[in-house]
Amino acid sequence: MFRTHTCGELRLTDVNKATTLSGWVQTIRKFGSITFVDLRDRYGITQLLFSETLNEKLELSPLGREFVLQVHGTVSERSNKNNQIPTGEIEILVNDFIILNKSITPPFTIQDDTDGGDDLRMKYRFLDLRRQAVRKNLELRYAVGRSTRNYLHEQQFMDIETPFLIKSTPEGARDFVVPSRMNPGQFYALPQSPQTFKQLLMVSGYDRYYQIVKCFRDEDLRADRQPEFTQIDCEMTFVDQEDILNMFENLIKRIFKDVKNIDYNDIVERMTWENAMWTYGNDKPDIRFDMKLCNLKFPAHTFPEKNNISNLINGVDFKVFDEAETVIAIAAPGCSEYTRKQTDELAEWVKRPQIGMKGLVYIKCNTDGTFKSSVDKFYNEEKLKAIANAVNAKAGDLIFILAGAEERTRKATSELRLHLGQQLGLRKIDEFKLLWVLDFPLFEYAEEDNRWVARHHPFTSPKPSDITTMINNNPVIENAAEYLKHPYANIKANAYDMVLNGNEIGGGSIRIFQKELQQKMFAALGMDEHEQQHKFGFLLGAFEYGAPPHGGIAFGFDRLCSILGGSESIRDFIAFPKNNSGRDVMIDAPSSIDDKQFDELQIKLDLKA
Ligand code: AMO
Repeated sequence: MFRTHTCGELRLTDVNKATTLSGWVQTIRKFGSITFVDLRDRYGITQLLFSETLNEKLELSPLGREFVLQVHGTVSERSNKNNQIPTGEIEILVNDFIILNKSITPPFTIQDDTDGGDDLRMKYRFLDLRRQAVRKNLELRYAVGRSTRNYLHEQQFMDIETPFLIKSTPEGARDFVVPSRMNPGQFYALPQSPQTFKQLLMVSGYDRYYQIVKCFRDEDLRADRQPEFTQIDCEMTFVDQEDILNMFENLIKRIFKDVKNIDYNDIVERMTWENAMWTYGNDKPDIRFDMKLCNLKFPAHTFPEKNNISNLINGVDFKVFDEAETVIAIAAPGCSEYTRKQTDELAEWVKRPQIGMKGLVYIKCNTDGTFKSSVDKFYNEEKLKAIANAVNAKAGDLIFILAGAEERTRKATSELRLHLGQQLGLRKIDEFKLLWVLDFPLFEYAEEDNRWVARHHPFTSPKPSDITTMINNNPVIENAAEYLKHPYANIKANAYDMVLNGNEIGGGSIRIFQKELQQKMFAALGMDEHEQQHKFGFLLGAFEYGAPPHGGIAFGFDRLCSILGGSESIRDFIAFPKNNSGRDVMIDAPSSIDDKQFDELQIKLDLKA
């Protein structure tokens, strides 16, 4: 028997028991004639004590870091207790040991506080995975998966696998493609999601489907994106939007309870996409804190009726505001005493290329009721007070104002809001706030091709009230500069995203299930009949055989885990992740293939420069 106990198991109540442990040598400390070793396995660390009697054997078979060791011994109470670890009150008095395998010196220390840099740890990920911090992340991931499966099983969902070697599923990214040896010159695409298959399962009558499934997207990577990632993918038949929102907010609440022991009793807030964009500047607002955006000037094409608010900033010949398409303010709570250095730093921050603004105006709402601003030359005390009122700023707040082109300014103010929220400690990692964002636009304008693309995917249904607008209007955009005036720009989708702490953790929609409407949708996206048949003939065909009304959602499993684990990066929650260039540096993939493989595929490599 290799072991009677694990390295995380023994306690004071086990004192005097004989035990056999197996694990990895984490540290070796010599004190005169005795040697202490920390032995590690998946379950914890136990201290071993080698007394003088084993010195001879230790000299003949010296131990080293990461050696695989088996020891026989007796559990004993420690004189010098360590209350940092669960086994810290005992140690094992070793009678004998066997080195099961040796290790060369690892390239970094395998401890929570490691000396290994990111790249090195990725190259030796199998060693990195021995570290407790990484193991805890994978344990959390496993717990989220288990909780998900339990809940969905109780709700009568069936886990059904769908293929990986398929035809393109459009989710807005590029496909990874796989050449077919048996069909020379033809390629499979790896699924960006199982979208069309889960819809076909609804046609087949499997009315509650789920899968925790790999998806593949060839897109630019960020901290919250990987080229292969995992979704909790779900679909239901005979449901409306309300049914889906209820079913899946309860899934997330259940995961909170099972994994974090959090009772999420708040009502999950809901916000339209439009409202999210106006009040937070993006479609995944972090609602753990307030600091809402306030327009002091609206772009001409929106809310002309509201533009009398611009009177607050007009009429003083301040060109920056006069010439801007939009002017947006936020009030940072309790920051009126920011120093010049602090406001200058923020001004530099908004000028960085990623944010791209020309400058930052501030108004200090002093606690004594006076005002001080970077534009005192233009605005008197009375005007500043009126602006502060409009922004809902209180005494002690610091107002920041950005001005410029609509899209960039809104995005920049949103980024500034998040930056300030972070600085002010308002984005707490142990606070969780869920939000549904609803009523997304059905279409998005693609400038490069001057046409409409599906904002979610082409299977999402329009709001019933917008169907006639879609059917009765020609999708062609005559005047690119005025695309916002096209009726398609205002069509709303039966689509919803779930947002957690400012991250999109899931998204879905009620689907189109009638062939004719689906064809209209494809046509609106610029697909002629031939292309529709070539790409989606199987789905259009299936819709002729009694397709039921259906809808669904998919959650980003890795993202959900990273937020629950309090980390920015989803890589920390994936056993073998890719780096930012999409490489697995451990196995060195992607890599070239043999000439023989090319021959079998009947492919000749001719890389364009
Ligand atoms: P969507 O494309 O919104 O919807 O994806 C669902 C969720 O998956 C996560 N996600 C990612 N996570 C890590 N790396 C990526 N590259 C990545 N891309 C997306 C996000 C996102 O909310 N078929 C539809 C779902 C449906 O309509 O039912 C779909 O895939 O958290």
